[in-house]
Amino acid sequence: MYVCVCNGVTERDIHQAVCEGACSMRDLRQQLGVASQCGRCATCAKAILDQEIQHAQVTLYPLGQHPQRNFKQAI
Ligand code: FES
Repeated sequence: MYVCVCNGVTERDIHQAVCEGACSMRDLRQQLGVASQCGRCATCAKAILDQEIQHAQVTLYPLGQHPQRNFKQAI
């Protein structure tokens, strides 16, 4: 599903960005251009970002050993 129509960003793009270390809307804006034009995607993108970070914390880096960032402990 497209999240940001202005920049052609999908949920999969956000998932990939989180896997590569993105952990904030600022990171998504810098890496993908999310919410950098009309801004209508910001709320949806933030919800997906939070969901992907939570997923990454639980499945990819359960001990908080993310290669680039330290996530807050959600568990
Ligand atoms: S839909 Fe994302 S900036 Fe317009």
